Amino acid sequence: LICPHFLLYMTCFRSLLTPVEVWNPTNQARNPHDHRRSTMAAANAFTSASMSCAPSLSGSVNVIAVCPRSVAAARTLSSSCLRPVRCAAVGTAAPVAATAEGDERRFEQLAVPPELVDELVEEALVWCSQHGLVVGDKNHPRSGKAPGVGLLHAPFALLPMSFPKVYWEQALELAPLFNELVHRVSLDGDFLQQTLARTKEVDPFTRRLLDIHSKMMELNKKEDIQLGLTRSDYMIDGATDKLLQVELNTISTSSNGLACGVSELHRNLIRHHQRELGLDPTSVVGNTAIAQHAEALATAWAEYNNQSAVVLVVVQAEERYMYDQYWITVALREMYGVTTIRKTMAEIEAEGDLRPDGTLVINGRPVAIVYFRAGYSPADYPSEAEWRARLLIERSSAIKCPSIAHHLVGTKKIQQELAKENVLERFLDNQSDIENVRKCFAGLWSLENDIIVNSAIESPELFVLKPQREGGGITSVSPCSQNVGHY
Ligand SMILES: *[C@@H]1O[C@H](CO)[C@@H](O)[C@H](O)[C@H]1NC(C)=O
Ligand SMILES: *[C@@H]1O[C@H](CO)[C@@H](O)[C@H](O)[C@H]1NC(C)=O
Repeated sequence: LICPHFLLYMTCFRSLLTPVEVWNPTNQARNPHDHRRSTMAAANAFTSASMSCAPSLSGSVNVIAVCPRSVAAARTLSSSCLRPVRCAAVGTAAPVAATAEGDERRFEQLAVPPELVDELVEEALVWCSQHGLVVGDKNHPRSGKAPGVGLLHAPFALLPMSFPKVYWEQALELAPLFNELVHRVSLDGDFLQQTLARTKEVDPFTRRLLDIHSKMMELNKKEDIQLGLTRSDYMIDGATDKLLQVELNTISTSSNGLACGVSELHRNLIRHHQRELGLDPTSVVGNTAIAQHAEALATAWAEYNNQSAVVLVVVQAEERYMYDQYWITVALREMYGVTTIRKTMAEIEAEGDLRPDGTLVINGRPVAIVYFRAGYSPADYPSEAEWRARLLIERSSAIKCPSIAHHLVGTKKIQQELAKENVLERFLDNQSDIENVRKCFAGLWSLENDIIVNSAIESPELFVLKPQREGGGITSVSPCSQNVGHY
């Protein structure tokens, strides 16, 4: 948490790449500092969700992905979901290098006998049911609307997988640098407007966001207190052996709550099967995303300085991942006594009001923080009402997480621009920080570049096609690509 001038930031890197460090005791004893001999596992609930849908990718990393099934049906363990599938995974790319003959395997595989898999699955499903590692079941019509209805275990990888520690540490070091970068870029309104000028012409959604942003610039709107809950996603590039950034999320970063559970689940399973698995549960790295999110929100709330103010969580009308959000808002209430209310953009438009002093009020209660867990995709704005709500929020003195400027910094076009020569220097001063940030930039091109487009047509396995915006399920990956994950 760094707070110059009420600037509140936190590192939520852990939320997606839920790290589970598993030291191989023999190797560790030999040389604890040699990362190639250690194994570090990474897994996350969301990643395995996408992995289980792509069961035949030719990676060497063996992942047992457990598909969502009804918790009630967990007794019938004959589902084909329980068969181990071979997948590539986020944060553990480079499976090719791992199989190179005679090579020291950086990404170790666990050979788990089928009987043990069945046992682990049953235990894991019980654990999920008892510890809130749950989502709404899409087959149940009300599961996205009412809590406690139509629950299903969250998708998860049964066991963690190995991941070199050195990359994990590198990512941790990068996190505060990226937070600072996001904030500094967000303060340069002209840079945002100019960089996104062409995107604006072709993407109506980004255009609407930019319009709100330029209105705020005209009003010379000041955001005295800012809160950013960001997440940087990485992969390891097999060809270069480098940790590369896939994207930087500045709005509605999710799975933070559930990811903590996955970490605990793995530790628990490994503790009970320590001998069979040959893994040490005490070296599993914990995940503190829930507590960190709650702390950041509470700190911002305290800065707003009105005891009767609430945190407004902007939600979608239907949200099967509501429990992921509740993990944070319930922690906020229990640890800090801060009340949250959940509203859709349409409800905010209908019930929200601005006092002359800029206070945003919902049903008579002042709002300290607007925490967006929706509003990142065009689908969240089905009518003009939602856009009016977004403008209302931006005009208010409530702390926005994120502000419109922070939101725009998360577009791929900005990421692309930052990767160009001498652009980072505009926002960061420290040369070694600049080098560290630049080192993890992967190539990023727009479709305006014919040479790149042609080479992507020739070698689709080398590319990932991504839209400007946030939200899962909209990324195109060649079926041959080794580097597959959820974005
Ligand atoms: C807190 O908000 C309420 C409602 O807007 C207002 O009446 C009150 O004066 C505020 N308190 C402070 C300390 O600003
Ligand atoms: C740059 O940052 C590094 C690492 O944080 C620090 O050790 C160094 O002193 C900084 N250099 C300058 C000139 O501030």
